[in-house]
Amino acid sequence: MEMKAFDIFDETTGSKARVSLFGATVISWQTAKTEHLFLSEKAILDGTKAIRGGIPPVFPVFGKASEGPCKDLPQHGFARDHLWQLSSKNANTATLRLAPDDLSKSARDSWSYEFELLYTITVGGANLTTRLEIVNKDKKDFEFQTLLHTYFRVNDIANVHVDGLHGVSYADKITSTKLMEKAEHVKCTAETDRVYPQVSQPVHIYENDKVKVILARDGLDDIVLWNPWTGCKNMADFGPEDGYRNMICVEAGSVNKWYKLQAGHQYVAQQTLTARL
Ligand code: BG6
Repeated sequence: MEMKAFDIFDETTGSKARVSLFGATVISWQTAKTEHLFLSEKAILDGTKAIRGGIPPVFPVFGKASEGPCKDLPQHGFARDHLWQLSSKNANTATLRLAPDDLSKSARDSWSYEFELLYTITVGGANLTTRLEIVNKDKKDFEFQTLLHTYFRVNDIANVHVDGLHGVSYADKITSTKLMEKAEHVKCTAETDRVYPQVSQPVHIYENDKVKVILARDGLDDIVLWNPWTGCKNMADFGPEDGYRNMICVEAGSVNKWYKLQAGHQYVAQQTLTARL
């Protein structure tokens, strides 16, 4: 499949984003000609695999479910590896839509609820806003998890830290332990995979002690921090080999429990990224 992508553009400031319809993945976001997202050099963009980089949306399960209605779905669900429809588009904003008819037979058979996902991406000045509306069109309630899996581009992970996580009890997925975050400034210095639930403070990503991006959230209470470190060389679609130095995933999610969405109801999950240069 050829890559289907389009650009949105803020004429006043020149900020822009590029969006792949496959996986509704924002693959580039630039303000003042500076790229803020990491896209793997080996990312597969032909629609055969979820895109390694940018902002793949995760729905209806974070990770792999061992039981329940999502147990037969692949890791991180089906939103990031299906072709979405372009529902509407203006110069600086677009809405993509995913519904049961867009799913592969295996995804549909695994998760058979009636639903609609509407994903609106907007660039404006220093901001990129991504808003996911999850609509339960079924007669039954369903449970879901969701997350915006943002890969931020950094010059050197050695000089990067994340603020806003201090005092939160997090689950370390590498060691399978629960720990209290003692650091004011959280750094990745080895393979990192953590779920920080109920993060109430705004999250700031710093490089060289300067704020790089501010992450504001609505309906996404949890933060996942991920960097594969040198293990990235074992990932077929990750490049360059030392590319872990140039990225940090700070992911806004509703992932620490299952969220019940009643029949006929909707849930809005939104993040706004603000770049500081
Ligand atoms: C993170 C998870 O959100 O995504 C990690 O916490 C996972 O456990 C990572 O390894 C990447 O997942 P994937 O499926 O894109 O390789």
